[in-house]
Amino acid sequence: MINCRICENKIKPFMSFGKMPIANRFLMEKDIPDEYFFELAPAVCDKCQMFQLIEQPDPKDMFHESYAFFSQTSSYMSLHFKRFAQFLLEEYLGDKNSFVVEIGSNDGVMLKHIAASNIKHLGVEPSANVAKIAIDNGVNTRCTFFNKELASEILQEHGAADIICCANVLCHIPDLNSVAEGVCRLLKPNGLFIFEDPYLGDVIEKTSYDQIYDEHVFLFSVNSVINAFLPYGLEVIDVEPLKVHGGSMRYTLGRRNKHIVSERVKTQIDKEVDLGLSLPITYDKFKRNCELSRENLLCILESLKKQGKRVVGYAATSKSTTVTNYCGLNSSHIMYIVDTTPLKQWKYSPGAHILVKPYEEFKLEYPDYALLFAWNHREEIFLKEDEYLRMNGKWIEYVPLSIMDAEK
Ligand code: TYD
Repeated sequence: MINCRICENKIKPFMSFGKMPIANRFLMEKDIPDEYFFELAPAVCDKCQMFQLIEQPDPKDMFHESYAFFSQTSSYMSLHFKRFAQFLLEEYLGDKNSFVVEIGSNDGVMLKHIAASNIKHLGVEPSANVAKIAIDNGVNTRCTFFNKELASEILQEHGAADIICCANVLCHIPDLNSVAEGVCRLLKPNGLFIFEDPYLGDVIEKTSYDQIYDEHVFLFSVNSVINAFLPYGLEVIDVEPLKVHGGSMRYTLGRRNKHIVSERVKTQIDKEVDLGLSLPITYDKFKRNCELSRENLLCILESLKKQGKRVVGYAATSKSTTVTNYCGLNSSHIMYIVDTTPLKQWKYSPGAHILVKPYEEFKLEYPDYALLFAWNHREEIFLKEDEYLRMNGKWIEYVPLSIMDAEK
């Protein structure tokens, strides 16, 4: 038993995915013997309902000067963040004195649009290499972790914020209480805190267990977000399901009793009750569905290996680290993985040690089968790769787990 990261209630994991490496740490051959592993095991707190990892590597080992995730690598995600910036500008930032803070601003994919409109802004980004790209693009950025102390510093230097936002960041931060207190200190009385993250309901429904990896210390639901922010005087006033990252939720929070709470909040909470997100039996079924998904994928890949088919992994995503390690995949199943990120190329995938090659290799010699690790970018990729299908190439997909197989 360990303490819940949010409310300190005693919790224990409902399953373990076994020993896992750092999902985004692609390795040179010489670094393989010293690779770091930790136990990837999720738990759900029966008091505050927060889905969380019981163990997580030190954030400094995950977010550093050679962090391998760049938000702008997906053109769809770039468009998504441009639209979000436009939405903020139209709805909330009409006043030229407005101030926006983004936590985990990465390469400035969203804030560059705010900066271009001459709105006062600040990005907070701990990974120096991605922060530099943002700075080079004219985005004011502080290269550090966001917490309550930094919030006080920003307040002193720049004043209170109209909007604090983040995308695919909050679920990475183990000391969520410090962030919540920081938001509470930094936000104007009528200000809004808007964030989006992969949604627990989608992970359970689709058996997309690969959303569980070291960086995702939490997977949020509306219920758990309400419980986490209540002690800091912040309430969820709106929610919006999003398609990105295989199913995400955008949460809007404001100070309690200052805003009208949208009907959508109640509707989503009712859906979470229907999904059984607070029932232990839901997680027992999820565990069995993960095992089924693993059996299915291994069965396909073993059979293709016997037939001598050429299988290549498509995109060396963080998520793929959970899949390759949990399913025991190696280069006898997958010849190599292709990826567009130069920092990952000619390195070995974490744990499974499958070589990552530049994306161009895919087009150079199409494989018989491509294992779609970036299933969340399915539509964008299938559009781009129509020639592969025309040349008789086949995709292997493992999310969602087939309805026939899944335990409901
Ligand atoms: P994403 O699903 O956002 O990754 P993560 O699981 O790490 O959150 O995908 C980003 C990775 O996928 C990145 O390494 C680039 C790669 N990628 C391609 O190689 N080709 C593509 O067409 C897309 C969309 C992504």
